[in-house]
Amino acid sequence: MIPQALATPSKEPEAISGMFNRIARTYDLLNDCMTGGMHRLWKRQACHALQLQPGDAVLDVCTGTGDLANILSGLVGKDGQVSAIDFSSEMLAIAKQRFPHASNIQWIQGDALALPFEDATFKGAIISFGLRNVASVEQALSEMVRVVQPGGWIINLDTASDCKNPLFWLYFSFVMPLLGKVLAQDKKAYEYLCRSTQTFATPAEIQDILRRLGLTESHIRYFSLGSVAYQASRKPLN
Ligand SMILES: C[S@@+](CC[C@H](N)C(=O)[O-])C[C@H]1O[C@@H](n2cnc3c(N)ncnc32)[C@H](O)[C@@H]1O
Repeated sequence: MIPQALATPSKEPEAISGMFNRIARTYDLLNDCMTGGMHRLWKRQACHALQLQPGDAVLDVCTGTGDLANILSGLVGKDGQVSAIDFSSEMLAIAKQRFPHASNIQWIQGDALALPFEDATFKGAIISFGLRNVASVEQALSEMVRVVQPGGWIINLDTASDCKNPLFWLYFSFVMPLLGKVLAQDKKAYEYLCRSTQTFATPAEIQDILRRLGLTESHIRYFSLGSVAYQASRKPLN
């Protein structure tokens, strides 16, 4: 099902942040074009799965241009706090431009593999379309688990590499890089995004990693004919 011609992409942090710095200005336009706007719905649903209350502190890892941070800002309200972290200065610059009035969002430039927060700081943590870019999925998830309080949810939203629909893979292999070439003038970046999906862990494999990290209560929700999914796993109370 998955075209094998493409090599495993490099997860070198400098290469990844450099690539996102390059495509930052057209990133949101491409997301809307490539998903027909559906990414907004997936992101909203994933944020709601955190089951936040007004006043909560929540973490958005690999925030990019801030879509999730903005949704979370509304969910936790003015008494809550959203920490939104990313290592790409250009993606963060766009996020700040897009949401200048969200006073409860703190934008932080930093590494998902070494989160600059104390243990059990947040009510929940979420990562969207970010995990497949990091050098170590286990380390990123383990950091998220560490900074979440007992009883809180950890959520990963991403394309689902176990998708069985051949149209999805054709779209990903050929249409996406073409859109990247035309709209972002960076075909390579969008070829990388396709490859990183093909070689990424399945939702069930990510769920297993979270289980090994001690999170037993969990569920997976698929969207859009199985092409996208989130895994929600809860940190035990004791
Ligand atoms: C595809 S974008 C996703 C952005 C946003 N979460 C969304 O769903 O639209 C991936 C983001 O992850 C960031 N990223 C990748 N690896 C990272 C790491 N190790 N630490 C911090 N940010 C990272 C990139 O800079 C980029 O902004």
